[in-house]
Amino acid sequence: MGKKPVVIGVAGGSGSGKTSVARAIYEHFGGHSILVLEQDFYYKDQSHLPFEERLRTNYDHPLAFDNDLLIEHIHKLLRYEPIEKPVYDYKLHTRSDKVIHVEPKDVIILEGILVLEDERLRDLMDIKVYVDTDADIRIIRRLLRDINERGRTLESVIEQYVTVVRPMHNQFVEPTKRYADIIIPEGGQNRVAIDLMVTKIRAILEQKSIL
Ligand code: C5P
Repeated sequence: MGKKPVVIGVAGGSGSGKTSVARAIYEHFGGHSILVLEQDFYYKDQSHLPFEERLRTNYDHPLAFDNDLLIEHIHKLLRYEPIEKPVYDYKLHTRSDKVIHVEPKDVIILEGILVLEDERLRDLMDIKVYVDTDADIRIIRRLLRDINERGRTLESVIEQYVTVVRPMHNQFVEPTKRYADIIIPEGGQNRVAIDLMVTKIRAILEQKSIL
């Protein structure tokens, strides 16, 4: 079989610990042969819209993402070609004019709330993971992060959570759990789950004659 990177999808609600799972796997591989693609960076470009309109966008709906571009980029990485990854600005609610040059790697972690929602993305994955964390923990993490890192107020985070994030989670994110091969409770702190994942990734790499 020809050489082809392994793709791991890591889904789960906002604040579930997807990023820490991705980071834990990344660190196991020493950062040499692995890369992380964040679905968030592939939110549709909204630079043509006024700021007020961007504020009103539903960022928890599948249609908010430019999955066409994401899929195009994954196909390039699968052919061991580099990509120019978009950069997302959470304060301006749009794609920035910068891009990051990303070299192909043997392991691709695709992380995001709705990466298991699109069948085309699921079909590209070797392992599908859902990080399952209680809603109270997720909202606490989100409050701290959005206020400290994404320039939001307490009131705006609560309002967005109640009116958009929670209903969209129940409608679109949570149902994708059924597509997961592995459900990880509590994310990156779960050492057993991370070790199992790393062992499995190594086995797939060997199978694909990469290691
Ligand atoms: O990192 P995390 O998985 O939490 O990122 C996804 C969340 O980012 C979504 O739940 C969405 O509500 C939020 N988001 C936002 N403002 C944007 C883009 C995304 O609050 N401009």
